[in-house]
Amino acid sequence: MKRIAILASGSGSNAENIVQHFKNHPEISVSCIVCNRREAKVFERAKKLQIPSYYFPKTDFYQTDKVLQLIKEEADWIVLAGFLLKIPQNILDVFPNNIINIHPALLPKFGGKGMYGMHVHKAVREMNEPETGITIHMVNENYDEGAVIYQAKTPVSKSDTPEDIAAKIHQLEQKYFPKVIENTILQ
Ligand code: GAR
Repeated sequence: MKRIAILASGSGSNAENIVQHFKNHPEISVSCIVCNRREAKVFERAKKLQIPSYYFPKTDFYQTDKVLQLIKEEADWIVLAGFLLKIPQNILDVFPNNIINIHPALLPKFGGKGMYGMHVHKAVREMNEPETGITIHMVNENYDEGAVIYQAKTPVSKSDTPEDIAAKIHQLEQKYFPKVIENTILQ
């Protein structure tokens, strides 16, 4: 069995979708959800889904091996699902080719520091982009620059608000992320 640790910081709609996808999967399972924000909604989802969940403050990620030790014991792969901290070097060293991230835009556009969640969709609106999408990519030491595994696009119409764009992105994430994770792990 290949085991996935999901790292999340917020609502956890992707985390939930991934857990559901791999429920009863013969070769892949989600072993835990790790989160750096105590109040994040992802904890409620983890409880409902009966997946072990762990809170670590930011300092535990960057100044200790606590998170690394947990993930090393619990998982073979790491999936970032709306996780907003940069992955620390100690984790990258142990999981050099086994971390997958989803970004809610067509990288290399709208990536980098401060570009997450609604900030991305607002920027897409402000730049009058004719299309946007999702990027699923490997995480390496150059965070937003890891190899692209998969991109899916959606048109942006002139009347779309940032909220409309977010809804379109959410649909793409729900449709593609679990399947792309599955294909990547099994290849
Ligand atoms: C998702 O849209 C994900 O692509 C994005 O955060 C959202 C999390 O939603 N990730 C980033 O912006 C990373 N830079 P969720 O908590 O409901 O899965």
